[in-house]
Amino acid sequence: MTELNQNEIIGRIQKLKKEKNAVILVHNYQLGEVQDIGDYVGDSLGLSIQAKEAECDVIVFCGVRFMAETAKILSPDKTVLLPVAEAGCPMADMATADQLRKFKKEHPGVVAVAYVNSTAELKTEVDICCTSANAEKVVASIPKDKEIIFLPDKNLGANVARDLGRELMLWPGFCPTHMRISKKMINQRKEEFPDALVMVHPECEPEVVEMADVSLSTGGMLKFAAETDAKQIIVGTELGIIHRLKIETPDKIFIPVSEQAICPNMKLIELHDVLNALENMETEIILEAEIIEKARASIEKMIAIS
Ligand code: 13P
Ligand code: SF4
Repeated sequence: MTELNQNEIIGRIQKLKKEKNAVILVHNYQLGEVQDIGDYVGDSLGLSIQAKEAECDVIVFCGVRFMAETAKILSPDKTVLLPVAEAGCPMADMATADQLRKFKKEHPGVVAVAYVNSTAELKTEVDICCTSANAEKVVASIPKDKEIIFLPDKNLGANVARDLGRELMLWPGFCPTHMRISKKMINQRKEEFPDALVMVHPECEPEVVEMADVSLSTGGMLKFAAETDAKQIIVGTELGIIHRLKIETPDKIFIPVSEQAICPNMKLIELHDVLNALENMETEIILEAEIIEKARASIEKMIAIS
C-alpha cells in the first residue's frame, strides 16, 4: 500500500470519526499535529470533564494511560482507545495500591489524596483525587484535624502544603520531565529576558515554583497568557504547551525554560497511530468493573468540588 500523506491521514481520521461516532480528546503536551485534530484539547481536569460529558460511542484519547483510564472510569459504557498502548507515565507508576494499603494500615484514619496522575488501581484506595488545577481546593476541603497523605507527586504536594500552610505527608514520587527544570535555568532565562513573567507547572520542585510569578496547570497557563499584559512569558513545563500558546496568543513571545523539558511518553502518539486506532479499534482500555466503580467515587468527588 502506498504511504498516505498528512492530509490524506487527516481526511481518513475525519471520515472514520463520523462513521464510528468518535471524539478525539488531546492533552496539551501532545505533538502539535495531533493537537490540531482534537475535538477538545486541554488539561487533565478539562479532559476528565469532557470524557464524562462527551456524547459519543468512542473516545480516542491522545495522552498517556492514566488519562485514558480516567476517561474509561468516568464513561464505562464508551469504548476508550489509547492509540499507543505503551504511552505511560513514570510518576503514576511510583505508587502502587499495595504500597498504599500498607501505608494506611500503619496510619489509621489517614485521608489519601491522589493526584490524577496515578493508576486506576491506586484510585480505588484513595479518598479523593485532584489535578494540578484543583489540588489546593481538594486539600482545603478536608477537615483540618485529619492527617493527609498526598501521592504520588511530592512536588505538587509540597507546593500545595506551602500555599495552604498545612502539613501533608508526601509520597516520594515525581515527574522526571518537570524535575529537569532547575532554578539555575530560570535565573538564566530571567537574565536574558528581564521583562518577561515566569509561569511554571506545580510539578516543578518547590524551590523552582517559589521563583515563578505564577504556578498553574496547563489549562491555567493558557488562560493566564491570554489575560496578562506581559508580552514575554518564560514557560516552565513540557514543551508541547508552546504550540497552543502560540496559536491562542499569537501576539506574545513564549520562552521555554528548557528545551529538554520533553515528556517522551507524551510524544509517542503520531497521526498515523490515531488513524490506526480508529481503523482497528486499538488499543482498547479494559478495566474490571470493580476497579471502575471504586475508582470512580474518588474522581467524581473531585469533579463535584472543582
Ligand atoms: P495538567 O495538564 O493537568 O496541568 O497536567 C500536566 C501533566 O503532567 C499531565 O501529565
Ligand atoms: Fe507523567 Fe510528567 Fe509525562 Fe505528565 S509530563 S505524563 S507527569 S512523566
